[in-house]
Amino acid sequence: MSTKIYLYPLLIRIWHLINALAIIFLIITGISLQYSDPLYPFMRFDLAVAIHNICGILLAFNYIIFIVGNIITGNSKHYIFRIKGYISKLMKQSYYYSIGIFKGEAPPFPINESNKFNPLQQFSYVVIMYLVLPILIISGFGLLFPEIVINQLQKTSGIFITDMLHIIGGFIVSIFLFVHIYFCTIGKKPFKNFKSIITGWHEDNH
Ligand code: HEM
Repeated sequence: MSTKIYLYPLLIRIWHLINALAIIFLIITGISLQYSDPLYPFMRFDLAVAIHNICGILLAFNYIIFIVGNIITGNSKHYIFRIKGYISKLMKQSYYYSIGIFKGEAPPFPINESNKFNPLQQFSYVVIMYLVLPILIISGFGLLFPEIVINQLQKTSGIFITDMLHIIGGFIVSIFLFVHIYFCTIGKKPFKNFKSIITGWHEDNH
């Protein structure tokens, strides 16, 4: 038997598509800027700067769509969790991903309308969307408009701190992207989740 549940509202799907494309371009141009060498240019420096700036601004505006979309569609409820007992939920899901799934055990947190993320997904999405992306976007604006950045903090240059935050944030998002795509392939069929984030419908085959 196959059951279908509507998990991804249109606004969230539009946000996700723009976000994924912007982040992919930001990672490619960001790596090119970080390791730029005039002798071996991976990409023309001025072109990489222009694409990085445009995608960064697009990402920032799109982030507003995520926040607003989450509020008006009610999707935000999936990003709220109780701290009490959460570690044990994370452990249960980690056990399932590392051992249980290979023994054919049932998932400890089956997907339904009220719980569309398992605890590991939920935790990683909350950290990325409500901590890392804001740091990345704010530090990006600081680097785009250096005049708004404070000169010094405890004898360390404000621009240096802003730059470090931006590089560390970019690194975390790059690692997240790989892990995210890998975990999205886990399930009865490897492309099932990718289909869901395009159509909005999650299909479960019992
Ligand atoms: C090529 C790039 C990407 C692909 C193929 C992809 C794929 C997917 C898929 C299949 C889902 C639905 C499964 C699930 O709920 O976990 C999903 C959801 C999600 N993805 Fe991605 N993703 C990509 C990039 C990103 C990036 C760059 C971010 C954040 C920086 C991100 C954040 C999220 C979030 C927060 C959700 C849950 C959305 C919601 O329903 O509220 N994704 N993604």
